[in-house]
Amino acid sequence: MNFIELASQRSSVRNFEAKLVEKEKLLYVLEAARIAPSAANFQPWQFIVVTDPEIIKLVQTVYHREWLATAPAIIVAMGDHKKGWRRKSDGKDFTDIDVAISVDHLTLAATEQGLGTCWICNFNTERCGEIFNVPDNLEMIALIPIGYPVIESKPVKKRDPIEQLVHWNKF
Ligand SMILES: Cc1cc2nc3c(=O)[nH]c(=O)nc-3n(C[C@H](O)[C@H](O)[C@H](O)COP(=O)(O)O)c2cc1C
Repeated sequence: MNFIELASQRSSVRNFEAKLVEKEKLLYVLEAARIAPSAANFQPWQFIVVTDPEIIKLVQTVYHREWLATAPAIIVAMGDHKKGWRRKSDGKDFTDIDVAISVDHLTLAATEQGLGTCWICNFNTERCGEIFNVPDNLEMIALIPIGYPVIESKPVKKRDPIEQLVHWNKF
């Protein structure tokens, strides 16, 4: 499978089989996240891997969707704003970007392993931080449910054509 095939195969999965994900596979996708690039190589990311059904139930309280109950594991991706690189010229904090790259590695590695994932950012981050008692410098960036997908036929998600986004030599 070449890279475009892998990236095209990934799509948001919101329905999982009642099958646990092997620890080796979880470690594999986390390794993909770990080796991601980051600004100044500061690696401002932390992950909580939730496999305990009782804690999964707690996480469901921060994002009320029935489908989330089907996920056998949820990875909470966090950004460490104390660690992230800030551009001196304007103070821009690159933590979000770094975490996003890392999570993208993770989701693509999951696809390669036959696993499904879905980015979730529309959740109650404050409550989530309380559940895990994380320090203030850690921002709860995304929940990534992960598991074996229930195969459903769904329409291919449209993307804008390349002419609309790529500019050669001038804008
Ligand atoms: C940063 C980000 C945040 C997202 N947040 C949510 C979310 O809160 N809930 C959800 O169901 N999907 C969420 N998604 C999934 C998008 O809706 C989905 O990626 C998009 O519609 C494209 O579909 P595809 O992933 O199947 O290609 C998010 C995706 C990204 C990249």
